[in-house]
Amino acid sequence: MSVIFSGVKPTGFPTLGNYLGALKHFVTYQEENDCYFCVVNQHAITVPQDKLELRDNSRKLAALYLAIGIDPEKSTLFIQSEVPAHAKMGWIMQCISYMGELERMTQFKDKADNRVGVSAGLLTYPPLMASDILLYGTDIVPVGDDQKQHLELTRNLAERFNKQYNDIFTVPDVHIPKIGARIMDLGTPDKKMSKSDENSAGYISMLDDEKTIMKKIKRATTDSEAIVKYDKENKPGVSNLMTIYSLCSGKSINEIEDMYEGKGYGDFKEGVALAVIESLKPIQERYNALINSDELDDILDRGAEKANRVANKMLQKAERAMGL
Ligand code: ADP
Ligand code: NA
Repeated sequence: MSVIFSGVKPTGFPTLGNYLGALKHFVTYQEENDCYFCVVNQHAITVPQDKLELRDNSRKLAALYLAIGIDPEKSTLFIQSEVPAHAKMGWIMQCISYMGELERMTQFKDKADNRVGVSAGLLTYPPLMASDILLYGTDIVPVGDDQKQHLELTRNLAERFNKQYNDIFTVPDVHIPKIGARIMDLGTPDKKMSKSDENSAGYISMLDDEKTIMKKIKRATTDSEAIVKYDKENKPGVSNLMTIYSLCSGKSINEIEDMYEGKGYGDFKEGVALAVIESLKPIQERYNALINSDELDDILDRGAEKANRVANKMLQKAERAMGL
């Protein structure tokens, strides 16, 4: 049995990218392992958030976790800010991080990008993420491709702490799916699909209705070749749609190439859209049933209780090891 931890930020509503790269896989771990799934709302405030929207998004994300099949009897589902040990351990992790290594994080560089008014939290969010993970003795972190560098930092911080103070942290492994680890934006397929990018129209929200999904996929950027062939370098738009199609339908890339041989992008896009609609529909139905139930609040209370118990123990060990 391994300990699994993963989190999603409650900024906007998860996209098809979040689903195929991360959320979809969470369910497969929960039978055999000790799983922690977190709504990382403290990561969301590294950029300004509307308070009502943030609260609403946190609750919605929790309902989505349940709707994709996270079973509160088998997994611990909780909201980060309800477990104060995360922020406390976050401070410890900041103090053992070097400025240079944080400044080198590509996500920080992309987001800060010489803008004014960049919060210090944007720089120190990776040590907070390390804390999220290390507090539970996590063995495996299932994430998308964009989190690889942050996971490497987490491993370095765990090893550094173990060496400098006391050997208390498990050094976690990262699990990145072979296919779908980086679903691209439908409009600009050289950029990852992201719910945090307000300027993008190229994402599919997991709550989009059939018409919207069809419209967005029909509009997706492709190329002028009109050949359904997987070629990430030269046909990034078509290849991204093929990846989405394959993951949503279970058909292999080869099967899809065969199916659409001699056909245009119109037929192909319709096939992609129908596969996406089919795989999101049951999730949306469960989500709608859950979002207004009191059950959700009970589940989150129980999750926070369990998470606090486990996290406080590890926090105490770390504090003792440092003389706090
Ligand atoms: P976002 O960047 O969309 O705001 P988060 O930072 O909350 O998403 O990430 C939640 C999870 O989804 C992480 O495991 C992340 O690696 C994964 N993820 C994010 N975007 C994508 C994408 N375009 N394709 C695949 N996985 C993704
Ligand atoms: Na991300």
